[in-house]
Amino acid sequence: MKKKFSVLINKKINKFNKTIAAPSDKSLSIRVLLFASQCIGVSNIKNLLESEDVLNCVKALRTLGVKIIKGNGLYKIYGNGFNSFKTKKKTNIFVGNSGTTARLLMGLLSTHPGKFYLYGDASVNKRDMSRIIEPLEKIGAYFYPKGKKTLPLTIEGTNFPLAQTHIEHLGSAQVKSCILLAAQNIAGISTIKEKKISRNHSEILLKNISADIKVKKLKNINLITLRGQKNLHAFDYTVSSDPSSAAFLIALTLLTPESKLVIHNVLCNSTRTGFIKVLKEKMNANIKIKNLKKISGENVGSIIVSGSKLKSINLSGNIGALIDELPILFIISALTKGISKFNSIEELKNKESNRILESKKILTQAGIKCKITKNSMKIYGNDKIKTQNKSIVVKTVSDHRICMSSAIFSLATGIKVKIDNFETVNTSFPKFISLIRLLGGKIEIKKS
Ligand code: S3P
Repeated sequence: MKKKFSVLINKKINKFNKTIAAPSDKSLSIRVLLFASQCIGVSNIKNLLESEDVLNCVKALRTLGVKIIKGNGLYKIYGNGFNSFKTKKKTNIFVGNSGTTARLLMGLLSTHPGKFYLYGDASVNKRDMSRIIEPLEKIGAYFYPKGKKTLPLTIEGTNFPLAQTHIEHLGSAQVKSCILLAAQNIAGISTIKEKKISRNHSEILLKNISADIKVKKLKNINLITLRGQKNLHAFDYTVSSDPSSAAFLIALTLLTPESKLVIHNVLCNSTRTGFIKVLKEKMNANIKIKNLKKISGENVGSIIVSGSKLKSINLSGNIGALIDELPILFIISALTKGISKFNSIEELKNKESNRILESKKILTQAGIKCKITKNSMKIYGNDKIKTQNKSIVVKTVSDHRICMSSAIFSLATGIKVKIDNFETVNTSFPKFISLIRLLGGKIEIKKS
């Protein structure tokens, strides 16, 4: 992690009209690296996101003996086939702030004999790993210390992994992808009964590189089967822009009257566009997706958004398609007239911070009434918020999305904000400050 710094914002942004490029998608970037490491030959990856989370994944793979070279704007991953990591007696791996790297990588390590000690930053070290320990133990891996549910942990992979049937009931793409990465290295058919649908990038990528994967949509579940140990060949891949990063810029545009923003080549996979869908269909937002096309097997499009008079929202059901966008949706709702309700959001407590609590802290400081329970949130929105004599201090440790949501809140209202630990934004969106400045926003950086 680079040096700590805070940011100060105390001026509302003026209206803007711009076309910008959003950063590449984090989920896709981490997945292509991990899957390419298990293919035979050199995979060429264009537009890999160069954020701390992704670069920690690159480092972790290099520690495991995978050659990765950057040149001519491409990342070249030299894969040696399934189960091909070069293992020592004990390998130490730092995953930084990246829960995705930690959980997905453990899927791969579960089928490698050897001991791997995984550790991360303070935030990752608090996150629940029992959700992947349970399925990986079923496959045959061991975890030490016994009974510990958080990093640091040592995983000991097995020589004889067993194909199993897993039930995924959390709606977690990380758990599903962890199992799929393990399954690709296991002989026989592994099965996942996906009870709550989550982002499906791993399934799309596996299909695209000719893995033996089938996804059957049944009445209440997706039945995913994967016959492992098929040799997969290296591939070329272009990573499109991250809808979860674009969401902050979309929010700022919606909340700034007479503004317009165009963002090309944004990943528009329906398991990721819940935020846009809700804004358009339920909140009256002026937002369109155009030029839909396929890039590396994924739906990609241009997003055109304009400042809008929004309506409050009552959200319930599966939140999988907008899980990472909820903090910024809370901010939008807080600045929209009416009471907004969010149900079944308990998974937000398990992110880089407890996002229900941290969002409430921001809104309450701004004088927005907000009630929370362990799985819901009610926001009493105000589209004419008074800014005088108000200021907010955000001290969340290591949560990039809380930091960026607070920044957007301040830019949209003019309420003064000081956000500590803003360096954590580099985990997903290193160009956030420069992009905000490009739109005309004023952000001051203070060394902490
Ligand atoms: C991710 C899945 C989601 C999401 C995270 C990235 C992924 O987490 O919140 O930012 O790349 O698979 P869960 O799977 O824990 O819901």
